[in-house]
Amino acid sequence: MDRAWWKESVVYQIYPRSFNDSNADGIGDIPGITQKLDHLQDLGIDVIWLSPVYQSPNDDNGYDISNYRAIMDEFGTMADFDEMLEEAHKRDIRIMMDLVVNHTSDEHAWFVESREAKDSSKRDYYIWRPGKGGEAPNNWGSFFGGSAWEYDDASDEYYLHLFSKKQPDLNWEHPELRRDVYEMMNFWLNKGVNGFRMDVVNFISKDQNFPDGEMTGTGYGDGNPYFVNGPRIHEYMHEMNQEVLSKADTITVGEMPNVGVEQAKLYTGSEREELNMVFHFEHVDVGSGEYGKWSPQPWKLTDLKTIVTTWQEGLEEKGWNSLYWSNHDQPRAISRFGNDSEAFRVISGKMLATCLHMLKGTPYIYQGEEIGMTNIAFESIEEYRDIESLNAYKDFTSRGTMSGDEVMHAIHERGRDNARTPVQWSAEDHAGFTTGEPWIAVNPNYKQINAEAVLADPDSVYHYYKRLIKLRKQNPVIVYGKYQLLLEQDEQIYAFTRELDGERLLVLCNFSQEEPAFALPEGIDLTGSEVLISNYEVGGEAGLPALKLRPYEARVYRLN
Ligand code: NOJ
Repeated sequence: MDRAWWKESVVYQIYPRSFNDSNADGIGDIPGITQKLDHLQDLGIDVIWLSPVYQSPNDDNGYDISNYRAIMDEFGTMADFDEMLEEAHKRDIRIMMDLVVNHTSDEHAWFVESREAKDSSKRDYYIWRPGKGGEAPNNWGSFFGGSAWEYDDASDEYYLHLFSKKQPDLNWEHPELRRDVYEMMNFWLNKGVNGFRMDVVNFISKDQNFPDGEMTGTGYGDGNPYFVNGPRIHEYMHEMNQEVLSKADTITVGEMPNVGVEQAKLYTGSEREELNMVFHFEHVDVGSGEYGKWSPQPWKLTDLKTIVTTWQEGLEEKGWNSLYWSNHDQPRAISRFGNDSEAFRVISGKMLATCLHMLKGTPYIYQGEEIGMTNIAFESIEEYRDIESLNAYKDFTSRGTMSGDEVMHAIHERGRDNARTPVQWSAEDHAGFTTGEPWIAVNPNYKQINAEAVLADPDSVYHYYKRLIKLRKQNPVIVYGKYQLLLEQDEQIYAFTRELDGERLLVLCNFSQEEPAFALPEGIDLTGSEVLISNYEVGGEAGLPALKLRPYEARVYRLN
């Protein structure tokens, strides 16, 4: 297995709008990030993944870019960006930019020109098609509700938008568009950024016949089979690698909804020269019902373990895993996979961190996770800001498929704003995030849960993350060791080993609030073992078989 710095790294995701506001306008910004670099250095992370900071009208909080070479006014200036980059590098922290090139904003100059006339030189930068019998070119639904096509009066054609109608899809079939994207990426690399997280990048190649999809409960067809890992995707990824990525020492991760492990081998196999890692969604989709995440169901640990194990084993020889519980599109990790009650919040947060950081792959921490932040449950839909939740509420209630209360319940469980309330820095007003009015309300639990409090408490989630990160730096087995699942059928305990050059770790994580008893499989002997880390005191019994775990207990042993 080839060694590489990005395999040994821990990545920290910043969603700038909610991170730290330096100028009292209620919106997080780039100088606000620079102010907190010491916090991140202290935590010990190696790379920041910066969600989009480019100019944007903010229909989808920066994932709708109107200029790839300018900074969003609310976030600051290019000089602010350069300063942040320099300050990060001074602290040995690399910066990974968000690259959103499946679509732009409809306010991007390319689209404005493309829309102007059918013979505009930028027309083919986007996907334009005539209607069919007075209707859209096909039946695909958009991820944010409604049709994926928007009619344009002037040209009597439709343009494709897999997300909001203010996010028209780029046409990757067009060589000039690809060349412009690569040039733009090189512009950022020349500035010194260290890599890219690529937004829904496995959607960029579309089946050029644009066939109708199978009808879904939303009243629209499912276009996924025609744009997920589409016909030319690997050609594009390899071309991007050759034109851009291979020329610098980068870290890359492709966000890839609906990707499976077989496809991931093609994207991440090192000899194929495409990407380093992908983000898949199989584990964060457990417990999804009829309307996907909008009908949340209880989930089973065995399902989670099967998914994670499939990925661990699938990418063992070739490729590399990314590891995450949460990001800006997901609920908070503790609320989703642990237990956010007062009794178990901290302990379950540490357990989840242990499990994730001991798996094989590059771990990603989402801002606030290191503080132990939890989901938000606003009472009224008016308090939500996320276009996806707002549209889902409108769609489900107007179609009568769910009551307002049912949709609110789903939003509380799985909505994206759970992760987007401001980072809780202190017990001061608005959690010290801003001295103005925050763009979205702060979680009312900030008086108990905040950075200042966790820094002062040696027993906190924060200090536990620090220890985990340090262990990774000291023990190559955590990075490169082979994974093996134990206790496969157990519904409460996630147990596995990691092994490298004869050194073996045993990881035990109790995902329940009970005290499950278990027997260690043959061949695993705790005699003479050492506890590397644990979220409870592990006393003198450390050398004996641990036959019971306490609620949400996690232990990592170095076996003899
Ligand atoms: C995935 C991003 O993570 C999400 O926030 C965004 O809404 C969509 N892609 C569209 O860009």
